[in-house]
Amino acid sequence: MTKLEINSAAEMQKLGATLAQTARPHDLLLLNGDLGAGKTTMTQGLGRELGVRRPVKSPTFTIVREYREVKLPLFHMDFYRLENDDLSSIDLAGYLAEPGLVVIEWPQLVMADLPNEYLQLTITRVDDSWASTKRIVEFDPHGKRNEEWVKNVLTEFDE
Ligand SMILES: Nc1ncnc2c1ncn2[C@@H]1O[C@H](COP(=O)(O)OP(=O)(O)OP(=O)(O)O)[C@@H](O)[C@H]1O
Ligand SMILES: [Mg+2]
Repeated sequence: MTKLEINSAAEMQKLGATLAQTARPHDLLLLNGDLGAGKTTMTQGLGRELGVRRPVKSPTFTIVREYREVKLPLFHMDFYRLENDDLSSIDLAGYLAEPGLVVIEWPQLVMADLPNEYLQLTITRVDDSWASTKRIVEFDPHGKRNEEWVKNVLTEFDE
């Protein structure tokens, strides 16, 4: 599996930007990793690169934040606080049907409702120190398009 070492929050945002540069309508990005791993930080770099001018904030309390004002709309979700009965209040299939980019933090609860093609990233801290800014990002693409996406990301990120 492909892994990338990231050494700062800024570099994580750059990886997000690279994901944005190589994204296509209907792409689905799943972000795994513990609290504070850097999922939202990555999405901030991604949103900025897509052209979002307002701050990309964590959707922890709203579950979904929509950024429709850009050419490739961004739907940023976080299911960490999802209660079982909230799930029906979110039209996940509706978002997935739109020609945008769906980014999901804490996707475990909704895996059964997702298509089988997506790009899953797992961010882990490698140092014991809480202050460490080092992270490992693992790429786990499902389906041809997502394998291609990873290839493009790695090529662009290196440059
Ligand atoms: N290499 C790094 N990548 C990403 N964030 C980093 C890095 N180094 C330090 N940080 C800091 O760690 C924090 C990551 O917080 P962030 O909200 O992005 O995490 P998260 O994975 O979205 O957590 P949550 O599960 O609570 O939503 C930020 O304060 C960020 O500045
Ligand atoms: Mg977050």
